Amino acid sequence: TRRVRTRDLIAAKERGDRWPMLTSYDQYTASLFDRSGIPVLLVGDSAANNVFGYETTLPVTTDELIPLVRAVVRATSTALIVADLPFGSYEEGPAQALRTAVRFMKEAGAHAVKLEGGRRVAAQIEALTGAGIPVMAHVGFTPQSEHILGGYRVQGRGDAAEEVIADARAVTEAGAFAVVLEMVMGDVAKQITKELPIPTVGIGAGPDTDAQVLVWQDMAGLREGKAPRFVKRYADLAGVLGDAVKRYADDVRTGEFPAAEHTF
Ligand code: KIV
Ligand code: NA
Repeated sequence: TRRVRTRDLIAAKERGDRWPMLTSYDQYTASLFDRSGIPVLLVGDSAANNVFGYETTLPVTTDELIPLVRAVVRATSTALIVADLPFGSYEEGPAQALRTAVRFMKEAGAHAVKLEGGRRVAAQIEALTGAGIPVMAHVGFTPQSEHILGGYRVQGRGDAAEEVIADARAVTEAGAFAVVLEMVMGDVAKQITKELPIPTVGIGAGPDTDAQVLVWQDMAGLREGKAPRFVKRYADLAGVLGDAVKRYADDVRTGEFPAAEHTF
């Protein structure tokens, strides 16, 4: 088997085949998701919340994300690995975006990068694709802008639909190979998906996008507490792991572990 390429994803759209995408930040999940047939893995800046324990995605840095991307690339053989450009690493303009993206490609072996924004980052997307770096765009709700967007809110309601549509058109025009639509009204996501030649990847954008993405700890129930409405939980990893740790701790306290078979 060979690595998935961006043109495979465009071909899938032309055939009408939907595909799943997940985040991954480490060796074991990357290897497992790769072997399970997930064609695209995102080392998201959501590592800020889901790995490093920050409150928002804003604090995470390129230096923190590069080792995670490297681990995910090394652990996989088929999936296309997308590295998220963190807040503050591309907003200054095309030159800064190129510097950051080149680090993810050279130092970590990423196959593509992702950045947030529509019309406002079109020049960055052009510069990266012009340098041979595939770009996944991300419009609608963009977590790095949560303070100006007023928190986690659905985008593209009513008159705002035209804003999201204009952003999706701009990133396509600039050369993006795919676009994430986050918390976009379902009918707007459907319209964008129909119009654009590149795949749309929905998260909280309804059933009519070409692909779907979720944060793996949300999908697998490792993150506890109330999940956003767009998350579906496929497992209770927090329950499974919590139970395993409790039984291990009990066994150590009672002397049940280690037993003869664990002893040299
Ligand atoms: O960082 C992330 O996990 C993301 C996806 C949810 C699209 O950007
Ligand atoms: Na992200």
